[in-house]
Amino acid sequence: MSDRSVAIVGATGAVGTEMLRVLEKREFPVGKLKLLASSRSAGRKLAFRGEELAVEELGENSFQGVELALFSAGGAISRKFAPLAVASGAVVVDNSSVFRMDDNVPLVVPEVNAEDIKEHQGIIANPNCSTIIMVVPLWPLHQRTRIKRVVCATYQAASGAGARAMQELEDQTRAVLAGEPVKAEHFPAQLAFNVITHNWPIGENGYSQEELKMVHETRKLFHEPRIAVTATTVRVPVLRAHSEAINIQFTGAMPEADARQILAEAPGVEVVDDREANRFPMPIDAAGRDEILVGRIRQDISQHAARGLDLFVSGDQLLKGAALNAVQIAELL
Ligand code: A2P
Repeated sequence: MSDRSVAIVGATGAVGTEMLRVLEKREFPVGKLKLLASSRSAGRKLAFRGEELAVEELGENSFQGVELALFSAGGAISRKFAPLAVASGAVVVDNSSVFRMDDNVPLVVPEVNAEDIKEHQGIIANPNCSTIIMVVPLWPLHQRTRIKRVVCATYQAASGAGARAMQELEDQTRAVLAGEPVKAEHFPAQLAFNVITHNWPIGENGYSQEELKMVHETRKLFHEPRIAVTATTVRVPVLRAHSEAINIQFTGAMPEADARQILAEAPGVEVVDDREANRFPMPIDAAGRDEILVGRIRQDISQHAARGLDLFVSGDQLLKGAALNAVQIAELL
């Protein structure tokens, strides 16, 4: 791969700063690097490969000469600026939800459907973080015995709501411990010492947007329009790794021993499932890790003929759930 001119849109955000680190750590062939954010951050310096680079304000002419643009500045920015980046000749990997379900935009998790990248017309979408963390362990199981239905409950970290939301969780925690009043601006309620299921807009059918993303994106990634998925998404007072309790119903038998072996060999997965030592996936261990930690692997006793499996997984929302997956897509271009 020859060196490429890269731009990060939202470079000062929770995901953007991880993108910078992931590009550096994976020795992505970056020639020129442009760091773009709002006017609030213009001039701020961020380190890349030992150099201090100044953040520039995003504008309509920001993409001249840019070959690869990684977007993570929210849906409104992607909707307006991603087409401008493509028109200037860049390929966009977009972390927002704006283009994910567009038929002309591949939605990609490299461990699942890397070949879909070839179909891109300028924009490739990075799936929702909870979807990514769920599908990485589900896909290799589905390859062996088709999945009929998935029931998932998430335990989502503050990082999914951005850098300011992470700060808010820290501030709230300090305020509670100091007996001071708690301010909630980025979350709809106090998150410290609490859990919130209404952190995303709830639609007419009672599902949140986040829950429906998990349903629709899984179907698109798997090319399985009929796979049944239902989810309850929950924000918990954890800083940066999401966890999920996943119940799976297969169309045939999936003995626990087989599942364990498939997951042990699956790319992007690390099995953490030691009943004797009482070691299982925890967000605190997944934070900073590239792999999705998978454990509590057990046959679902409510289903007959070994057709059901339960898992508990933890994965870094900012890495595999966002920045790492985006860079892995870019590596395949
Ligand atoms: P800024 O730091 O200048 O506000 P997060 O998801 O952590 O909240 O980060 C959002 C990212 O998107 C930040 O880098 C933020 O920049 C950027 N951003 C937000 N609004 C705009 C905007 N209007 N123009 C350019 N970048 C924006």
